[in-house]
Amino acid sequence: MKAIVLRAPGGPENFMIEELETPIPKQHEILVRVKAVSVNPVDAKTRAGKALYNSLKEDAPVILGWDIAGEVMAVGDEVPNFEVGDEVFGMVNFPGHGKAYAEYVVAPAAHLAHKPMEISLQEAAAASLAALTAWQVLVHQAQILPDQRVLIHAAAGGVGHFAVQIAKAFGCYVIGTASGNNYAFLRELGADEVIDYKNEQVEEVVRNVDVVLDSLGEENCLKSLKTLKPGGRLISIVGGAKEAVEAQAKERKITTLNYLVHSSGKDLEQLTDLLRDGRLKVHISHTFAFDEMPEAHRQIETHKTRGKIVVNVE
Ligand SMILES: NC(=O)c1ccc[n+]([C@@H]2O[C@H](COP(=O)([O-])OP(=O)(O)OC[C@H]3O[C@@H](n4cnc5c(N)ncnc54)[C@H](OP(=O)(O)O)[C@@H]3O)[C@@H](O)[C@H]2O)c1
Repeated sequence: MKAIVLRAPGGPENFMIEELETPIPKQHEILVRVKAVSVNPVDAKTRAGKALYNSLKEDAPVILGWDIAGEVMAVGDEVPNFEVGDEVFGMVNFPGHGKAYAEYVVAPAAHLAHKPMEISLQEAAAASLAALTAWQVLVHQAQILPDQRVLIHAAAGGVGHFAVQIAKAFGCYVIGTASGNNYAFLRELGADEVIDYKNEQVEEVVRNVDVVLDSLGEENCLKSLKTLKPGGRLISIVGGAKEAVEAQAKERKITTLNYLVHSSGKDLEQLTDLLRDGRLKVHISHTFAFDEMPEAHRQIETHKTRGKIVVNVE
């Protein structure tokens, strides 16, 4: 099979398409013929030698990527719920070695879900890591409730655009931050208010928030504390809840947490319900061919991507 291998950390030019043995699924695993993968910021950080690179490098060859959608080609003896020919999607082995940039991927059955008929394979691949992150943060960690006020930072990005829609599906009042270019996009997604971070200071104009989803870092967390009500929760997905943030949060009776997404077929099944009835829409702004993976990485590294990036594998 063809796979995109990273022989050394560095720029996108370090990717090489190589011919490797097709993997064989173990008892609890599924062999998927991959049709589409989605690219996330963690892919680029890991490629550059940061994020998860150190934990992957001992398991050469390093094959990046975690988000896949495709067709089941073989199932292990102890996989009851999938059959050859099923279309599936999911985030494989995160934060381990996902090996998604390949024609075939072996995945634990517990990391996958059936693709809903209503969406394409490209949309399904895109609705994996970023959608799971938004779901796990808002539903499991923040336990959002109807009428709560939820502030989503970088609301036009991969995680953010899913988070806005999930919070709306739960009946929350949603405030998103983005540049003015994304105002109309966020309103279409359902955001009740959009803060143009280039022209407004969120900490000056937003108050009485129950939940903040931070994807920008410590400085943004410090500002966001001012928007939260006592008893509110700040969850950072970029490790922004550092000591200074925690100290101020304690004074204001705010709970803080740094969160890392994990693979979960069960969570994907719940997202599937929203994807099926259109409450969760996947916005794909860029699609690339398999041999254009370096361009896909350059795009995600702009930090300006609206929605998601997809790479077709065939
Ligand atoms: N811990 C975890 O489990 C986890 C999971 C997923 C992602 N992450 C991390 O979370 C971050 C976001 O991920 P992502 O996939 O959403 O990234 P992304 O898709 O690349 O986000 C791009 C978006 O960020 C917006 N943006 C950039 N600077 C901004 C600012 N100062 N204020 C508001 N919006 C801004 C841009 O909107 P404009 O063009 O309008 O500026 C753009 O739409 C990344 O660092 C990623 O590694 C962590």
